[in-house]
Amino acid sequence: MCYKFIMEGRKLVFILIVLGCKLTPSHGDAGSDLSKLSTEYFEWRMSVLPESSTRRGYHKYNDILESFTLAGYNESKVRADEYFARLKSIPRDELSRSDSLNYDILENMLSTYISGYEWRLYNNINTLNLLEGPQIAPSDFTSFFPFNTIGDYENYLARLTRLPNQIDERISLFREAVRLGTVYNNVSVNLVIDQIENVISACPLSNYSDNCGFYKPFTQDLDNIHTTNATRTTLRSRGVTAVNLLMDKFQNLTIFLQTEYMPATRQGYGVANLHKGREFYQACLKWHLSLDLTPEEVHQKGLDEVKRISEEMKKIMTKNGFQGSISEYFAMLKNDSAMFYNSSEAMLDGYRDLLDNRVDPHLAKLFNNLPGLPIVVKAATSDGPAGYYSPGSKDGSIPGIFWANVIRPAEYAKFSMLPLTMHEANPGHHLQISYNLLTETPDFRSKMEYSHMFSVPYAFPSYTAFVEGWALYAESLGEELGLYKDDNELMGRYSSEIFRACRLVVDTGIHYYNWTKDDAIDYILTYTDESRHGTSLEVDRYVTWPGQACAYKIGELKIKEMRQAAEKKLGDKFDIRAFHTSIMDNGAVPLDLLERNVNEWIEEQLAQQPQEPDSTTCSAQKQFAQIWLLSILLTSVEIFCR
Ligand SMILES: *[C@@H]1O[C@H](CO)[C@@H](O)[C@H](O)[C@H]1NC(C)=O
Ligand SMILES: *[C@@H]1O[C@H](CO)[C@@H](O)[C@H](O)[C@H]1NC(C)=O
Ligand SMILES: *[C@@H]1O[C@H](CO)[C@@H](O)[C@H](O)[C@H]1NC(C)=O
Ligand SMILES: *[C@@H]1O[C@H](CO)[C@@H](O)[C@H](O)[C@H]1NC(C)=O
Ligand SMILES: *[C@@H]1O[C@H](CO)[C@@H](O)[C@H](O)[C@H]1NC(C)=O
Ligand SMILES: *[C@@H]1O[C@H](CO)[C@@H](O)[C@H](O)[C@H]1NC(C)=O
Ligand SMILES: *[C@@H]1O[C@H](CO)[C@@H](O)[C@H](O)[C@H]1NC(C)=O
Ligand SMILES: *[C@@H]1O[C@H](CO)[C@@H](O)[C@H](O)[C@H]1NC(C)=O
Repeated sequence: MCYKFIMEGRKLVFILIVLGCKLTPSHGDAGSDLSKLSTEYFEWRMSVLPESSTRRGYHKYNDILESFTLAGYNESKVRADEYFARLKSIPRDELSRSDSLNYDILENMLSTYISGYEWRLYNNINTLNLLEGPQIAPSDFTSFFPFNTIGDYENYLARLTRLPNQIDERISLFREAVRLGTVYNNVSVNLVIDQIENVISACPLSNYSDNCGFYKPFTQDLDNIHTTNATRTTLRSRGVTAVNLLMDKFQNLTIFLQTEYMPATRQGYGVANLHKGREFYQACLKWHLSLDLTPEEVHQKGLDEVKRISEEMKKIMTKNGFQGSISEYFAMLKNDSAMFYNSSEAMLDGYRDLLDNRVDPHLAKLFNNLPGLPIVVKAATSDGPAGYYSPGSKDGSIPGIFWANVIRPAEYAKFSMLPLTMHEANPGHHLQISYNLLTETPDFRSKMEYSHMFSVPYAFPSYTAFVEGWALYAESLGEELGLYKDDNELMGRYSSEIFRACRLVVDTGIHYYNWTKDDAIDYILTYTDESRHGTSLEVDRYVTWPGQACAYKIGELKIKEMRQAAEKKLGDKFDIRAFHTSIMDNGAVPLDLLERNVNEWIEEQLAQQPQEPDSTTCSAQKQFAQIWLLSILLTSVEIFCR
């Protein structure tokens, strides 16, 4: 639902020049040891995540696939331990300030992974679900793949031929989960059957067309390759053979799920129903939040936030003379066609108007050095979340895109559109990622891997709490700027916020307090204007990814908490623009490091220290590097959604 990748590749010719700043000798051996270690670490990750590395425009491993085996999980742990030991042998106090942060982040990534090993036999061996796996979108398998030469086709055929084996590996791990009793609830896999059916029906036996995602590269694309007709014919027939075997394997996967796995799925919805399940949940929460909070604390924060926000909502309702419940109030508001656009085009224009005329003119009040990278609003091509964001390139040649779902204008009220715009576009994902694109960080940070959510907590972190916490915080900035122009728009904003607060209650409810799916749906519908059908799918997501949905509100609360601390300590010296810079400048980090960074910034403001030396000595090189950056680099990213 939320994780997709977009990549734009260019040549990497001048990369060393870009790294110039980091290679300056003044930082000594420690700096170069760290740089060498982080390069090797990144290469290792790309080699074991070949599908992701293809998406990142890194084509060295295009002929292989990720492997899912217990032995492989053990090998990765050994490897991570080795890197961790090497990192610890680097004297951190000899590093430059920016390298110290690189060190801390690498340390956080490795130690998070290593401590997750304990839970490798939980969700991590259930490697397919309604949100993840090759059955979801075959186009993901081919979209990022280059098809320019015969070599590319050989690589693709190698990968295609290996996919049935990967499916067998996944089946073996599923069997292990059944044996150990660490299985999903039925709702996590039930939809997988339909997804596989869609894949198979798009590929009728041996008669493949470009409807068949896995075969598509062998259709028209192949005509553009410089080669003989005989070679094309051979490639096509090898393609047919490979896809035949793959479809056969998908068919067997369905049979396996229906006859072996689904009858063995766990009875309760939450992981509390597994052996040591509550401890497992706690570990998942810690992974997603990048903070040590207990499930009880998260639940309580959720209840407090729901109470606070619902009181704001009730004030508005009372003011307007309404006696009923929040959901009745929304039903009343939505019982009026004036609350909706009457066409997809009008709705799309509505989003553009909000961004260009309502939000953007005010950004300079809250931010310094606006990056000004372009953003466009486009209509999402398939139904799904209300909106999502895909980043552009750092030279601005590819704009960031706010993909708005305008497929059902009669169901999504106008008053919900402004918070969504602020979340996905400015000052939410687009602004944060623009700052990020213009900050130079090593590959392991700038091309951070987005882990399989099923692997959590035995996975390298991607700091969702920071990224999504920022976007939710961005929604609140609209209130501060007075952008929500009437009570209805404020209700839309609160509905969006309370929805994320509800997630704290229901995620912990399901996994820690053993709530049922209906308990969770009813709770959410009490406070929001979400539909029952959409909420049901949402809850399936929570059931499948314990803790993930808590990242948004917890991240936002942390940013607000840091802001309050800064306002209190700095008093008159507090500058909101500089505060935002202190958050954005370091890119995505775990929340405990965010807290430390902001506290350091506060101390500096109090002492009114001059700029750190790094930024002045390197500024000429940085400028030089920026020029080269115009012509290069890969932008590898996730699609961020609510
Ligand atoms: C993985 O390591 C664990 C702990 O050392 C061991 O018990 C297990 O047998 C290993 N599994 C495989 C498949 O090597
Ligand atoms: C193959 O598919 C095409 C449509 O894609 C259809 O017209 C044709 O009849 C099919 N051929 C066979 C042998 O099924
Ligand atoms: C190759 O095939 C194309 C279309 O199928 C055809 O137009 C062309 O004449 C063929 N070339 C040779 C050398 O047979
Ligand atoms: C699918 O299952 C059948 C029956 O168990 C088996 O004969 C066949 O080889 C399997 N196909 C694949 C591709 O695994
Ligand atoms: C799984 O859920 C589906 C849809 O609710 C239901 O039809 C099916 O019987 C369930 N299977 C099991 C094993 O619970
Ligand atoms: C969770 O609730 C179900 C009933 O809804 C019950 O059967 C199960 O034993 C409970 N599990 C735990 C761990 O309390
Ligand atoms: C919707 O509006 C109609 C006519 O204005 C009214 O009769 C009906 O009661 C309203 N429904 C709700 C749920 O407010
Ligand atoms: C759509 O709404 C606009 C104004 O909001 C109105 O001018 C137009 O007539 C409406 N079109 C339809 C088909 O109802």
